[in-house]
Amino acid sequence: MSDETMKHREVRFPRAVKRGAVLLGLVVLALAVALSTTGCGSKKKSSSTTTAAAGKCQLQVFSWWTGGGEAAGLAKLITDWNTDPSLGGGSPGCPFKNETVAGGAGSNAKAVLAQRLVAKKPPDSFQGHAGKELLDYIKAGQIEPINFIYKSAGFEKVMAPQLVKQITYKGNLYSVPVNIHRANVLWFNPSVLKKAGITIAAGSPLTWNQFIADLNAVKAKDPGVTPLSLGEAWTQKHLLETVMIGVLGADGWNSLFAKGADWNSAKVTEALNRFKTLLTYTNSDASSLTWQDAGKLVVDGKAAFNVMGDWQEGYFGGKVKAGNLGMKSGVDYSWTAAADTNGIFDWLSDSFTLPKGAPHRDAAVKWLTFLGSLKAQDTFNPVKGSIPARQDANPALYDTYLQWSLKQWKADQLACSLTHGCAASNAWNADVDTALGQFMQSKDVAAFQKALVAAAAKNA
Ligand code: GAL
Repeated sequence: MSDETMKHREVRFPRAVKRGAVLLGLVVLALAVALSTTGCGSKKKSSSTTTAAAGKCQLQVFSWWTGGGEAAGLAKLITDWNTDPSLGGGSPGCPFKNETVAGGAGSNAKAVLAQRLVAKKPPDSFQGHAGKELLDYIKAGQIEPINFIYKSAGFEKVMAPQLVKQITYKGNLYSVPVNIHRANVLWFNPSVLKKAGITIAAGSPLTWNQFIADLNAVKAKDPGVTPLSLGEAWTQKHLLETVMIGVLGADGWNSLFAKGADWNSAKVTEALNRFKTLLTYTNSDASSLTWQDAGKLVVDGKAAFNVMGDWQEGYFGGKVKAGNLGMKSGVDYSWTAAADTNGIFDWLSDSFTLPKGAPHRDAAVKWLTFLGSLKAQDTFNPVKGSIPARQDANPALYDTYLQWSLKQWKADQLACSLTHGCAASNAWNADVDTALGQFMQSKDVAAFQKALVAAAAKNA
C-alpha cells in the first residue's frame, strides 16, 4: 500500500482540527474555482479539492505497479512524461503524481479505487484490464468514451484488433491498452532441473504427465527444494486458471464465461483434481508470499518451477538498479508454456482510462495519447516484460522471451484471463476468490466445483 494511502487510513484528527480543515477546504475550494480559468487540466474539473490542495496541476495516475519490472516500466513512462515538454507533462505542464497501491494483480488497488470512484474522487487515469473488468467501470458510468483520442491519434489502425474488441462497448472505446501479457508461463531453474535429470528447452511443449514426472523427480532428488513455488491468493487463482485451460483448451475455457455454461462438467472436475494434485508440490508458506517472492525462490535455486505471467520476465531479467534481479535468461532461469497449454496464449492487457470527473482532464487526454504512442509502448514493454498492444512495434527492442511471446501472440489460440480481468467481472472474480479460499483449506473438490457453478449462475 502506498505511503499516501497508509496516511489517509491511519491519521485521526481531533474535532477542532477537523472543523478548521473544513473551513480551510472551503477557502481552498473557492480559490480553485477562481483559478479554474487559468489552471491546467479541464476547466470544469479543476475545482476538485485535490487540485486545490496541490495548488498546481499534477497528473494523478493510479496503478498497482510498485515492484520489479512493473515499477521500472512505469518509471520509464514517468521520466518521459516529466521531461519531454511535447507530451504535455513536465514542468510547467502537469507533472506526474504516482498514485500506486501495492499488491500484485491489483489485489489491494482495486478496492481502494472502487472507494475513490464511489466517493467521486477519481484519479486522472487508472489502470484497468481490458475485457470484463473494464466493462464494470463502463456500466457503472465511471469512465468516459475516448473515441476522439483514437481518432486523433490513429490508434484504431495500429492496435491489435482482438484487443480493440475487448475495450469497445456499444461502439465506443474506453481505454488505451499499453501492453499484452501472457499468463500461462512456466518459469524454471535449468540448474535445479539438471540436477534432477531434467532438461526442458525454452518454449518447448510440456504435457501434464511429463510435468508431474518432473515435479516428482525434483522432489526425489532434494526434498529441500520446492518443486513448484506458489504465492498469495491471487497467484493461486492464476495457477488454477492455467491448469483449467490445459484441460479445457482455449475454446472450452472461453465458453465457460458465457451464460448457461457447464461448470459442472467432468472436464472441470478433472481440472480441479489436477490443481489439487499440484498443491501437494508447493511451499507451505504460499499465502504469505508475493509473486516476486515466489518467483525468486526459483532463481535462488530454492524451487524448480513457478507458474506466473510474464511480468516475471521483467523481474527476473531486468536491471538490479531498477529493483529487479538482473538474471540471465536461458542460464539463471528459463520458460515454456504451462503444461498442456502449448499453442494457447492466456492473455490479458493493461489499459488506462479517462475517469468521469478526472481532476485534470486535459492532461489525462494527453497522457492517454502518449501511452498509445509507439515511443511509449516500445519504451515501457521491454522493461515491463510484456509485448506491445500496437502491431507496429520494433521486435529488435525485445529480449528472447518477449520475441517468443510476440510470435506466439500471432500464432496461438487466445484464452481470456480470469485472474486478470479479461473473462469475468470483479464481482464474479470475488466469488471465485471466496470459493478458492475455502478450497485451499478444505481441499474438497466437489464443494469447490459446486461453489464455482453457483458463482457462474450468479454472475454470468
Ligand atoms: C496483472 C497486471 C500486470 C502485473 C501483474 C502483477 O494483473 O495486469 O501488469 O502488474 O498483475 O502485479
